[in-house]
Amino acid sequence: MRLRHVSLGALLVAVAYCLALVAPAHAAPASIVSGDLWPDDRGRHVQAHGGGITKCGETYYWFGEDRSKDNDPGKRYVACYASEDLAHWRFRNQVIRLADPAGFGPEWILERPKVFFNAKTKQFVMYMHIDGRLPGSESSYSLARVGVAVCDTVDGDYRFVKSFRPLGMESRDIGQFIDDDGSAYLIFESRPTKGFVIARLSDDYLDVEKEVCLVGAPIEGGALVHYQGLYYAVGSALTGWAPNPNKYATATSLAGPWSEFRDIAPPEKNTYGAQSTMLLKVVGPKATTVIFMADVWKPDAQWDSRYVWMPLEIGGGRLWLPPPAVWTIDVGTGEAVLKH
Ligand code: GAL
Repeated sequence: MRLRHVSLGALLVAVAYCLALVAPAHAAPASIVSGDLWPDDRGRHVQAHGGGITKCGETYYWFGEDRSKDNDPGKRYVACYASEDLAHWRFRNQVIRLADPAGFGPEWILERPKVFFNAKTKQFVMYMHIDGRLPGSESSYSLARVGVAVCDTVDGDYRFVKSFRPLGMESRDIGQFIDDDGSAYLIFESRPTKGFVIARLSDDYLDVEKEVCLVGAPIEGGALVHYQGLYYAVGSALTGWAPNPNKYATATSLAGPWSEFRDIAPPEKNTYGAQSTMLLKVVGPKATTVIFMADVWKPDAQWDSRYVWMPLEIGGGRLWLPPPAVWTIDVGTGEAVLKH
């Protein structure tokens, strides 16, 4: 047989070469630049404002409000992007392109979409803030509902199912939280009670079933993370599109008691112009990084609104947002490194 004449060394080199071809090379840590334009794979600024992340396998999907300038003004849009490294995003689809689905009125609003995967029904379930003007109301944010849409694939066309007031309460900004045991929660701001509500979803995720806690604080843009045995809640004050000093509180149980809310950055910085939307935990063999995801709103040019994504200093009951910078995240190891 010919193989007998091949030296062991040459054989090892050949095996190593073949392995290199099939084994995925460990991608270099990718840079994230807070506050700049964030081009997708088409070179267009990512349209995923007030967004959230859903991870499927090794791929992160970023959903958010698509405020593209050329959108049909009669419709509301949610876009979805995919990434393996959290820095380079491929546009997948406008997963929602919706004309008023339930008589909400011409000023209707769709904001802050968040997508949950339900392992039992194998459905992707999107929650969104639905709003508009109740007849006779002075406010265009008086409907105060959530909407639900579903899809069989993560980035397919979502079908609008219904809207309602969760637990019968007014609901404006929403957030999403999946606990370590897989339980899914909707976070919503309920103004009449000056409350930040943490509520558990039903088994099929199509309903909001149980109030776990009404945190008595006027906090919106609500986000949660469980880190080293403590729950951290982050949110902003109620100042509309204008930035304000975002704050955090901690608790050993989602049901509370929650600590008082404290500043996440020097208050005079107004969260560097940003407003919280989600806390994303990246767990790796070397480190766990918690990313503060936030929006820098441009109310008169929403398509140009920017993102602040920064790794938080977190632990021992303290949470701190460093000034926006260029940094790298290595999703393989969990490590984040600030560059400048
Ligand atoms: C903010 C909220 C945004 C949007 C805005 C409208 O407080 O976080 O999602 O609703 O108000 O003024």
